[in-house]
Amino acid sequence: MRCFLTVLALSLSLGCSRGKPKGSDGAETPSVRIALVTDLKGYLEPCGCTSDPLGGIDRLAAQIRVLRDGPAPVVFLLAGDTFFDEARIEPVRVDQASRSAKTLAGILDGLQVAAVLPGRSDRAQPSETLDAVKAASDFPWLAMQGDVELLRLKAGDLRLAVIGVRPGADRSVVKPLVAQAEADSDLKIALVDGSRRDANRIGAIDGVDLVIQGGLDEDAPVSPREAGRAWLLHASRQGQGLTVVDVYQKRKGEAFVDRSDWSRVEAARRLDAQLSDLRGKIAAWEKSGDVDAADLDAQRARLAALEKERQVVDGPAPPTDGNALYATWIPLPKKAPTDPAVEALMRRHDKVVNDANRIAFASLKPPPLGPNDIGYVGSAACSGCHQPAYSWWGTHAHGHAYRTLQGRNKEYNLDCVGCHVTGYEQPGGSTVTHNLDLALVNVGCESCHGPGAAHAKDPEEFGILRDTPESTCVQCHNAQHSDLFDYERYLKALVVPGHGLPPG
Ligand code: HEC
Ligand code: HEC
Ligand code: HEC
Ligand code: HEC
Repeated sequence: MRCFLTVLALSLSLGCSRGKPKGSDGAETPSVRIALVTDLKGYLEPCGCTSDPLGGIDRLAAQIRVLRDGPAPVVFLLAGDTFFDEARIEPVRVDQASRSAKTLAGILDGLQVAAVLPGRSDRAQPSETLDAVKAASDFPWLAMQGDVELLRLKAGDLRLAVIGVRPGADRSVVKPLVAQAEADSDLKIALVDGSRRDANRIGAIDGVDLVIQGGLDEDAPVSPREAGRAWLLHASRQGQGLTVVDVYQKRKGEAFVDRSDWSRVEAARRLDAQLSDLRGKIAAWEKSGDVDAADLDAQRARLAALEKERQVVDGPAPPTDGNALYATWIPLPKKAPTDPAVEALMRRHDKVVNDANRIAFASLKPPPLGPNDIGYVGSAACSGCHQPAYSWWGTHAHGHAYRTLQGRNKEYNLDCVGCHVTGYEQPGGSTVTHNLDLALVNVGCESCHGPGAAHAKDPEEFGILRDTPESTCVQCHNAQHSDLFDYERYLKALVVPGHGLPPG
């Protein structure tokens, strides 16, 4: 089990022998292991549309349990928007978003979260919404009243001070609290929600050891970064993965050395890019001959310095006898194990939301047809005259896009239905419940050819769009939901015998 953390790091192939502080038996137990998640944004799981979706609270739960089975005490912290992904939620979405937030809070509670520093979108919700979410959990939400809040925790032999900093709070109000924690804590961790600059300012406060930074809202996880004496820590967003930081504390108050292989890999990557860039430039300058000799020498010296820096990265790890931290990024791809109990809660949640929306939106109609609008009729109405096209469509993914949702209790889910049906929220089209008795479910003919009521009734009199420009496809095939989309390639799959080509 010695190297289990790196074994779990599925996308980073890190050696587990280097860099990690070692005792005589090979691996030393960390003083504390901090699991952190940033900018979760109310995501219970990814949509499932992309080629390798990352995330899922059931996968996160499985990882947290693995960590808890290890020898070190685990402290699980969250920072940044945790329960909501936007400050102002459309009125129709409030109920669904609140239900997700409550389910999430309950599941996190089961994972024994030590504390959360909610972000700006969380804080912007009306108090009755927040109270309901809070009621689903027992863990503290930090700095909800004042600008800063100090929470004292015990983890093994270590006394932790967790300092929550309200977004936008001035650093002058943080300082006294850090000083206050100085006397009776071994490790001081600040939780912030803001820009890298905000986090740097908190990290620069004397006495802060670690800063967990929410609010970056970036997909890319960030390896530990220096901020004064402290280290900034971060973990992607939307629960795509978690950052685990093993803290080895030998002497209170001493600065920590980052021994993470992750950081070395990142540093090597960054330096290699700089090196190849500079080498290319120097070669070009040498060839052109019109660069001043002194300037060229200066660039060669810069190259030598970078090469030296690069060698240090490959060289022996820093000494092991002082305070050290070792951070790992654990992404949560589809193949990562899930926690069955949490998965069951999620599936129950899907059913509850589906049932609630079906009833709540039962009378929701699409905008009415304007004087120049053409109505939708559904794909079956095309079948009589375009039999080959219709038969083909039935076998294509578009022809069963709704079943994909039904199989998951998501067909009434406001986050899903829009792209898996036809004419969503268009005049005379569909809504989450209204689909002309299922005529408009799936990505039907009219998703691409436009509303066809007039053409289907009188094809001699009324034409219909033949070509479908890329702009139509990307309304659904956007980056978040179709990462591999390529118009030419995807179009080829549609233009087939019976549909665009003579029946073969
Ligand atoms: C009553 C028969 C009939 C029905 C129903 C019908 N079509 Fe057509 N469709 C035609 C005829 C006829 C043409 C013209 C063929 C031609 O010009 O070669 C046509 C042409 C088309 C074209 C090619 C347009 C072009 O400019 O080349 C598309 C696309 C099309 N139909 C889609 C649909 C869709 C989608 C539906 C269902 C909403 C539908 N049709 C329903 C008879 C029908
Ligand atoms: C209304 C939304 C929507 C529009 C518009 C749309 N698609 Fe799709 N497309 C989907 C959905 C949803 C799926 C997945 C359905 C499923 O499997 O449940 C899909 C699947 C596909 C697939 C199958 C991909 C695979 O991996 O098998 C292809 C190919 C495709 N679309 C091409 C296109 C092209 C090209 C266009 C534009 C000409 C287009 N789509 C327009 C929603 C849309
Ligand atoms: C913005 C449009 C959009 C939204 C919103 C959307 N989807 Fe999709 N979905 C797509 C597209 C496009 C594809 C096909 C992607 C591809 O193959 O490139 C797809 C594919 C899928 C697939 C894969 C189908 C298969 O058989 O491989 C699943 C599952 C899925 N979606 C579920 C969902 C769920 C659940 C939600 C809500 C949480 C959702 N989708 C929301 C557009 C969307
Ligand atoms: C995802 C988008 C999409 C969907 C869904 C779709 N089509 Fe098309 N259709 C196209 C494209 C793209 C072409 C090819 C245009 C061209 O380049 O000629 C096409 C061509 C056609 C044509 C004219 C070429 C021919 O074969 O005569 C007809 C008719 C047609 N489609 C009917 C249908 C019908 C009927 C359905 C539903 C059963 C349907 N299409 C579903 C995108 C779509």
